[in-house]
Amino acid sequence: MLIRHRKRSDIASHEITSESAYLNRRELIKGTGLIAGSLALSSAIGASRSAYAAVMPAPGGKFADVAKGYAKLGGNDAPTSFEDITTYNNFYEFGLDKGDPAEHAHNFKPLPWTVKVDGLCNKPGTIDFNDLIKPAALEERIYRMRCVEAWSMVIPWVGISLASVINRFEPQGSAKFIRFETIVRPTEMRGQRSANLPWPYIEGLRMDEAMNPLSILAVGLYGQPLLGQSGAPIRLVVPWKYGFKGVKSIVRISFVEEQPQNTWKVMNGSEYGFYANVNPKVDHPRWSQASERRIGEFRRRPTLMFNGYEEEVADLYKGMNLSRLY
Ligand code: MTE
Repeated sequence: MLIRHRKRSDIASHEITSESAYLNRRELIKGTGLIAGSLALSSAIGASRSAYAAVMPAPGGKFADVAKGYAKLGGNDAPTSFEDITTYNNFYEFGLDKGDPAEHAHNFKPLPWTVKVDGLCNKPGTIDFNDLIKPAALEERIYRMRCVEAWSMVIPWVGISLASVINRFEPQGSAKFIRFETIVRPTEMRGQRSANLPWPYIEGLRMDEAMNPLSILAVGLYGQPLLGQSGAPIRLVVPWKYGFKGVKSIVRISFVEEQPQNTWKVMNGSEYGFYANVNPKVDHPRWSQASERRIGEFRRRPTLMFNGYEEEVADLYKGMNLSRLY
């Protein structure tokens, strides 16, 4: 990806994938000629600012009670710096370059915020962000994050278990998948004023993947609420999958029967799949997935099967052909 603000620790896209491969990805976006169509303005309505006081710290502050959660890291998995995590981003709603989200997300207002939960469940509704996260304990989860573009980070998230949220809405047996939708707010998200992607950004998981204890909804990192560029106020984190599954700024969660049409699969299904499991043995058609560049480091390192979470998730995919179902 092109980088507007190049820092010492930044890597240029051509260091990760070939420049032509990268340009191809951008061309793909430019060439689709998508029409943004009926962009709905913000659906974040109703909740008062004061409702957030119970969970959200004052601006610039940290979350009060964050329990130590799961962290399974290798000896060479030091957390990536806060600066790198929050200035080297993919969030096309704010632009295509890695520096765009940090540069432009300050106009984005993540609070108040509501999330609509609907589809095949017994207790659908529109829920205030605060109520969504309040009953559950906030946990720190330090996870590796591997982008499909072959760079990676280690991020100390603050979040809640996705399963604990799902259970509150009582999904029905017919719900086989869960679908997530990002907000559409072109007045604050300048990238949404062009048809770079078909907005809203959509992602999905199979229900058993969503219920896996590793899946979380993140609301912060390094103890602080998420900044706009990281997907404020709430985003998905599924550490054994490529980063594009981590849909940001979620406003809608739906329980559905059919596999959701996730954005990158819709953009180019031969390159980006629904499962998107990190797999060093299945190359991207235009570059190898065998190794990766950790942001802040210079040497490449081997990519681990399921990003190092094989023990926790391999059972989910028993009997599946992971080369075909990438
Ligand atoms: N979510 C939305 N709504 N829009 C995006 O463009 N980019 C995805 C994912 N979630 C994206 C998104 C991609 S490609 C990656 S690699 C991760 O966010 C990057 O997360 P980070 O910027 O916090 O590292």
